[in-house]
Amino acid sequence: MKMGYSCVVLGLILVSLPGAWPWSKEGHIVTCRIAQDLLEPEAAETVRNLLPHYVDGDLSALCTWPDQIRHWYKYRWSSPLHFIDTPDDACSFDYSRDCHDPKGAEDMCVAGAVHNYTTQLMHYRDGTSDRRYNLTESLLFLSHFMGDIHQPMHVGFTSDEGGNTINLRWFRHKSNLHHVWDREIILTALADYYGKDLDAFQQDLQNNFTTGIWSDDTSSWGECDDLFSCPKKWASESISLACKWGYKGVTPGETLSDEYFNSRMPIVMKRIAQGGVRLAMVLNRVFSDHKQHIPPPT
Ligand SMILES: *[C@@H]1O[C@H](CO)[C@@H](O)[C@H](O)[C@H]1NC(C)=O
Ligand SMILES: *[C@@H]1O[C@H](CO)[C@@H](O)[C@H](O)[C@H]1NC(C)=O
Ligand SMILES: *[C@@H]1O[C@H](CO)[C@@H](O)[C@H](O)[C@H]1NC(C)=O
Ligand SMILES: [Zn+2]
Repeated sequence: MKMGYSCVVLGLILVSLPGAWPWSKEGHIVTCRIAQDLLEPEAAETVRNLLPHYVDGDLSALCTWPDQIRHWYKYRWSSPLHFIDTPDDACSFDYSRDCHDPKGAEDMCVAGAVHNYTTQLMHYRDGTSDRRYNLTESLLFLSHFMGDIHQPMHVGFTSDEGGNTINLRWFRHKSNLHHVWDREIILTALADYYGKDLDAFQQDLQNNFTTGIWSDDTSSWGECDDLFSCPKKWASESISLACKWGYKGVTPGETLSDEYFNSRMPIVMKRIAQGGVRLAMVLNRVFSDHKQHIPPPT
């Protein structure tokens, strides 16, 4: 009985560990829904075929799967693929300098992962898929990592683990800077402006890039000459935003409230929208008949 008890306690500790939920569930769900709505018929059909039947064609139902499994023994290798640690205060991303796991294994970062899963899915159309790879998993990883690479604090400084060790308060509760960008801003916006209705939130976001404030920018978001270099560009945008808006003016232990929320919320919203538009662009290209060529990472 003693063993059983400690297993339960360990289980409770594990589920309540902070830091286990990068880019909130809501952020990933909305990114994937936006993307799926923008798919061309060919890509839409391929996505549907790759998804397990029980989600009934809904990609967003599994966009958080990589976060759920990253701590399982079988998938522990995938943990470094959710983020990039860049040198403190450098405010830049350099693929060969920064894209590795803490042990130095090359390409093991979110930019390397986007490239990796894009390449795997590309082979689906030309029928040369490597049988070692499960392409359902490749689709879920790609869809998830396209969200993560757009979350500014997922490309953060090394010593504070992308803001995870910067403890502070978000209004009246304890949080940390990473979580503020992953979840707090999104959840506060949902509660304050959308009656906690995710559909209303998604609709507002979609209106903003189809006819609203970002309608002039949307086509440039989807521009990408070379599917391999683009993840580097998206990661660079994230670290720039992390410096300019994430870390800027934040002192450990302080309370962040209205001022921080109001000025940062538009950035968070735009990154979710960009992630969705770009995920659609990648899937549309990867699953079209038109042949693509991606060079290996350098
Ligand atoms: C690429 O994908 C394979 C299969 O999921 C995985 O074993 C490998 O670690 C991945 N590498 C990167 C850089 O994402
Ligand atoms: C592919 O991965 C998914 C998710 O882990 C799993 O449910 C499915 O059974 C796998 N398919 C094959 C053929 O292994
Ligand atoms: C959409 O744009 C309006 C007008 O600028 C803004 O108030 C609102 O917060 C935006 N919504 C989202 C989800 O970005
Ligand atoms: Zn993640």
